[in-house]
Amino acid sequence: MKDSYDLVVIGGGPGGYEAAIRAGQLGMSVACIEKRVYKGEPALGGTCLNVGCIPSKALLDSSHRYEATKHDLAEHGISTGDVAIDIEQMIARKEGIVKQLTGGIAALLKGNGVDWLQGWGTLVDGKGNDKKVKFTALADDSETTITAKNVILAAGSVPIDIPVAKTDGDRIVDSTGALDFTAVPKRLGVIGAGVIGLELGSVWRRLGAEVVVYEALPSFLAAADKDIAKEAGKMLKKQGLDIRVDTKVTNAEVKGDQVIVTSEAKGESSEESFDKLIVCVGRRAYSEKLLGEDSGIQLTERGLIDVNDQCKTNLDGVYAIGDLVRGPMLAHKAMEEGMMAVERIHGDKAQVNYDTIINVIYTHPEIAWVGLTEQEAEAAGYEVKTGSFNLAANGRALAQSEAQGSIKVVADAKTDRLLGMHAISAGAGDIVHQGMIAMEFVSSIEDLQLMTFAHPTISEAVHEAALSADGRAIHA
Ligand code: FAD
Ligand code: NAI
Repeated sequence: MKDSYDLVVIGGGPGGYEAAIRAGQLGMSVACIEKRVYKGEPALGGTCLNVGCIPSKALLDSSHRYEATKHDLAEHGISTGDVAIDIEQMIARKEGIVKQLTGGIAALLKGNGVDWLQGWGTLVDGKGNDKKVKFTALADDSETTITAKNVILAAGSVPIDIPVAKTDGDRIVDSTGALDFTAVPKRLGVIGAGVIGLELGSVWRRLGAEVVVYEALPSFLAAADKDIAKEAGKMLKKQGLDIRVDTKVTNAEVKGDQVIVTSEAKGESSEESFDKLIVCVGRRAYSEKLLGEDSGIQLTERGLIDVNDQCKTNLDGVYAIGDLVRGPMLAHKAMEEGMMAVERIHGDKAQVNYDTIINVIYTHPEIAWVGLTEQEAEAAGYEVKTGSFNLAANGRALAQSEAQGSIKVVADAKTDRLLGMHAISAGAGDIVHQGMIAMEFVSSIEDLQLMTFAHPTISEAVHEAALSADGRAIHA
């Protein structure tokens, strides 16, 4: 550890560690302070690598393979013996992936000359040229004040608690607990039909749990395009997720080895019992111990760190990124903001395009989108035209037994410009990257119509959706 750095990054999640690496590449002296201890070891990678994106996708993959092997192979003429799942092995595989990736980040920091300081960082004073950061070491609680020309705050977020369902880390858990069940719950309750509820609800449903998802809002997947949300709702229900919209949980209590959940829908109250309950009703910015009393940093009314479009706070040389600031709580958004902040510090003109941040829900099929929904485009005053194509008529989707879902494009009818792409399909998360690139290059629907898409691919449905926007789809 040095006494002073060009840049101190507080938080070693995807936002913070990528920023630190970029700064190292640009020749700055950099420290990245991270206090996380994962399974007894100091760990980089933040929520995403330890208890978020990566472990959840590892379990989604294992559970999908299990379900597909058990139920989907007969139509291919493949027979298997009894199919069983060893939960301990599934969790061990997930841990192996987490360890490999977080260890890789430590090596990358080292390789780029970044000092990883294991402990808590507090911005004591962010004013002036030499900012003061207090470092409290995990090892012995010792406190050191370091100075920094620039600071990036990247402390991320934590799950929101609700008083009616207090987590106990055993029967009532948050997303972190739900990544570590040691057995498949017979009945699993989930509060919140958001991204975590659908992904982790799917994992345990595929492995055999009966899953009930309580959603307080009257609509399902309110942020998605209405057509896609409707299709997703139907598909997930058919898969066995019992999603109850407009239903408020009013109490959850552990009694013996059960959680008794009381909920209210249409004025009627009812009780159900579960082996486990996951509370996933959103996340909140995490700023405990991050800011000293005289840090000088301005917060928003909602407790987020106030930043401009370039992630600059009210103090020169202090940036804040990722889940700590406005915008979607997504790893790729945090990463790009980290790079932008460092490049701005370096004097470059980097900018994140917030209009093309992709959302992906990793159910099967995946649900993904970029840009405006049809409803948002209308509300923004566009004269809207849309086109969509059903995967039931896509040869590749049929050939790989994934002929479910659809792809939809949203465009400005006056200029033909693509405004959004929405997909529920195999690999939807990859598919909508085509929409992102097209939007970045200000493409029109006609551009997508005139390109040659390889046959047979799921991507052909993008071509057909664009053709359908002008009533010219071939296979519809
Ligand atoms: P974090 O990843 O939260 O990292 C912040 C780090 O800062 C933490 O490790 C914390 O320990 C550390 N820290 C905090 N305060 C201090 C301090 N004072 N001193 C030192 N260190 C500190 N996003 C996606 O894009 N795709 C996905 O598939 C996806 N899946 C998810 C699944 C789950 C179950 C969850 C919970 C989240 C998922 N997310 C996903 C969201 C994603 O994890 C976050 O958006 C992302 O991690 C935010 O990155 P960040 O760097 O801002 O913060
Ligand atoms: P979320 O915001 O996606 O969904 C929370 C849901 O809970 C909403 O539908 C909300 O209406 C509902 N809700 C809120 N209070 C409630 C209550 N008292 N009772 C019942 N329902 C209630 O939040 P979630 O799922 O916790 O995920 C947090 C964040 O993590 C996401 O917003 C996303 O940014 C990130 N994430 C991203 C993933 C991805 O990109 N694939 C995967 C998992 C998480």
